[in-house]
Amino acid sequence: MTSPAVSAAATARRSGPLAGTARVPGDKSISHRSLMFGGLASGETRVTGLLEGEDVLRTADAMRAMGARIERPGAGNGGEWLIRGTGNGALLEPDGPFDFGNAGTGSRLTMGLVGSYDMKTTFTGDASLSKRPMGRVLDPLRLMGTQVLEAAPGDRMPLTLHGPKVAAPISYRVPMASAQVKSAVLLAGLNAPGVTTVIEPVMTRDHTEKMLKGFGAEIEVETDAEGVRHIRLLGQSRLTGRDIIVPADPSSAAFPIVAATIVPGSDIVVPNVLMNPTRTGLILTLQEMGANIEVIARRDAGGEEVADLRVRHAELRGVTVPPERAPSMIDEYPVLSVAAAFAEGQTLMEGLDELRVKESDRLAAVARGLEVNGIDCTEAETALAVRGRPGGKGFGGGTVKTHLDHRIAMSFLVLGMAAEKPVTVDDRATIATSFPEFLGLMRELGAEIG
Ligand code: S3P
Repeated sequence: MTSPAVSAAATARRSGPLAGTARVPGDKSISHRSLMFGGLASGETRVTGLLEGEDVLRTADAMRAMGARIERPGAGNGGEWLIRGTGNGALLEPDGPFDFGNAGTGSRLTMGLVGSYDMKTTFTGDASLSKRPMGRVLDPLRLMGTQVLEAAPGDRMPLTLHGPKVAAPISYRVPMASAQVKSAVLLAGLNAPGVTTVIEPVMTRDHTEKMLKGFGAEIEVETDAEGVRHIRLLGQSRLTGRDIIVPADPSSAAFPIVAATIVPGSDIVVPNVLMNPTRTGLILTLQEMGANIEVIARRDAGGEEVADLRVRHAELRGVTVPPERAPSMIDEYPVLSVAAAFAEGQTLMEGLDELRVKESDRLAAVARGLEVNGIDCTEAETALAVRGRPGGKGFGGGTVKTHLDHRIAMSFLVLGMAAEKPVTVDDRATIATSFPEFLGLMRELGAEIG
């Protein structure tokens, strides 16, 4: 078990105009899946632009423990990762427990992956991950024949699974908008005979479907007249290694984008950002609020659309963000709330039930963080209203509890860059889970963070 990084506070101060190029690291969702699918496929997978954050490195460890060979031969950013997979159906029983740290995606997708194998696996995580509900993944796995040998109350980690001799393919309607649950069922289906079907009433990020197809899986998606997606995967087919280029993570790009929008005089470029429509809800919302985001050179990069984004400071106005947009910006509500604090009028965000079960209860964490920094907001069970004040006069002066949540830490540091008084977050170490370069990158743009 690796020891947790020492936690230390960080403080952001009102900064001069941000300028320059913000090269944000690779997409976290695609990075996890690259290691998993590459580790499972026959032959070699080469990955460029992999996010080398703590969460993703835990997934690499788990795949290695099950027989995949995963190396990073070169040095420096953007280096290539080389993976030689076991072949579909040929994962080995690991010697010890998996420690997934803070990583919800890594742990839930891996539960799916191993859930259909006749072997025992144990999952552990940090205090945040141990509070998160795993029943949403264990329930469909139980239908496929997986036994949950041990689990903390409420189907939480630490937990131990044992898959069946032969898994039963199922048809499963995902009860909440969750790409992790969808993906876990599909990954379990990879080692089940016959067709596993996932029915997805509300579309979520589609990286699993797209990438599995790229690895040669027999998978098809049909959208019916009601807009419900039916994803059918034929199990026990061959997966073959391939080359992957990981675009910049729109969920990480969100921080410099909002920072440049609220810090007067700013003008930055964020290159190579993933523009998959299941991920761009924040950009759309900020544009509706009056943000100045220019989408330059939209292009295809290895099967995903990417673009360079030029972002300049702008005066914002409050909007109502409809609940159906939530899946395409689910990780971006904390930083959108910070943007909303600088907008004229009220921003109302609805349909936020899933925010309660992220790395922290993000609805509560955001509301408390805004309140201690003098920002007027109302927290409801599944909604948040923020009443903004352009210019940020009187904002700041508070210390924000991050609750082991990287996106809470980064969002409130962005607040501090434009608030009148400094903003402190109690733990900067958590940022390394998804965006280890954050502090250095923001300082290079001109942000004052100590
Ligand atoms: C992810 C899905 C989302 C998101 C998470 C990454 C994925 O979680 O919040 O950061 O890569 O599948 P849910 O599936 O719980 O919404």
